[in-house]
Amino acid sequence: MRVRVHGRTKQFRTVSFDVRSNEVVLIEQRRLPHAFEFTRTTTYKQTARAITNMTVRGAGAIGATAAYGLAQGVRSFSGKTIGAFNRHVERVYQTLAGARPTAVDLVNAMNGVRASMIKGPTIEAQQEFALKAAERFADEDVAHCEAIGRHGVKLIKNGSSVLTHCNAGWLAFVDVGSATAPMYAAQAKGKSFHVFCDETRPRSQGAALTAWELHQQGVSHEVIADNAAGHLMQRGEVDLVIVGSDRTLGRTGEVANKIGTYTKAVLAARHKIPFYVAIPLSTIDWELQAGVEIPIEEREGKEVLSAWGVDKLNRWREVFVANRGSNARNPAFDVTPPELISGIITPKGIFKPRELWKYRRKLGCA
Ligand code: MRU
Repeated sequence: MRVRVHGRTKQFRTVSFDVRSNEVVLIEQRRLPHAFEFTRTTTYKQTARAITNMTVRGAGAIGATAAYGLAQGVRSFSGKTIGAFNRHVERVYQTLAGARPTAVDLVNAMNGVRASMIKGPTIEAQQEFALKAAERFADEDVAHCEAIGRHGVKLIKNGSSVLTHCNAGWLAFVDVGSATAPMYAAQAKGKSFHVFCDETRPRSQGAALTAWELHQQGVSHEVIADNAAGHLMQRGEVDLVIVGSDRTLGRTGEVANKIGTYTKAVLAARHKIPFYVAIPLSTIDWELQAGVEIPIEEREGKEVLSAWGVDKLNRWREVFVANRGSNARNPAFDVTPPELISGIITPKGIFKPRELWKYRRKLGCA
């Protein structure tokens, strides 16, 4: 993505790896949109923490971070025996796998790295293969998002308005984004369109991240309160909804995504507005049998009770919004059933949600 910093425009990736220092390099997403900064993690434990505390977030981005984190941990092994090495690899894998529960990209990415590295005949070869596989995952993430853009661009008609939820943009991936890929492709084709970004309480990824990203890219957009979508749909102001996903079940077509996605899908169905989900192949879970089995992350209630931002002097402030003494419930994701989804935009084409299983070979199911 191209970002304008201090008057100059430069190309960045959300997640990358510094081979010389064995560090994962991340855009510090908790500071956006008020500051554009990078952070480096020097150990796999720090990398896992950066995923948990949402320094880096979004399914594809945490997948790439976990892949690099695994390579980082594997490369830091300094013992001699293969037994000790294997135990170390398992520790690294489990630490990263436990960093966040809902997005399957994290585990899919690490399984890919592990499958590649075990082909190495020595510890050194496995260390090298792990890094190569992590780099491949990151590059594939970008390629998948570009392909999503090529398939999804036809959905965005000239003069239309698109609603999106949370951030499934380049900040949620290594680059390009999933839900935003058709938008950037439409922009490149010279189409004119407008995007409504749901603010996405409680962490406001739509207001803070998607709006910043679209602003950087020069895409016409407005932030709306989460509760405004129904009204705009009723008045005919939304032509299309495109969201991302943290885990899409290959067997059923159910889609886990940021809390509030299901509400928007119900509203879109009521108003006969096409509702699409854009995903790279690493977001598909071919194992789980039903959406109720998807682990839904429950986050701290204080995210709901408070809000964060900067004051006029650009100082970070947390302000208390809710009644002191009240508790909050904070599920971070919900599951949308296939009958509410018009299509799943993948790098291999657009499918009906229930067709994923039929086309599983084409879609990368081993
Ligand atoms: O809690 P977050 O910010 O990691 O949640 C992100 C989302 O729900 C995105 O919509 C999702 O990751 C799909 S696009 C990668």
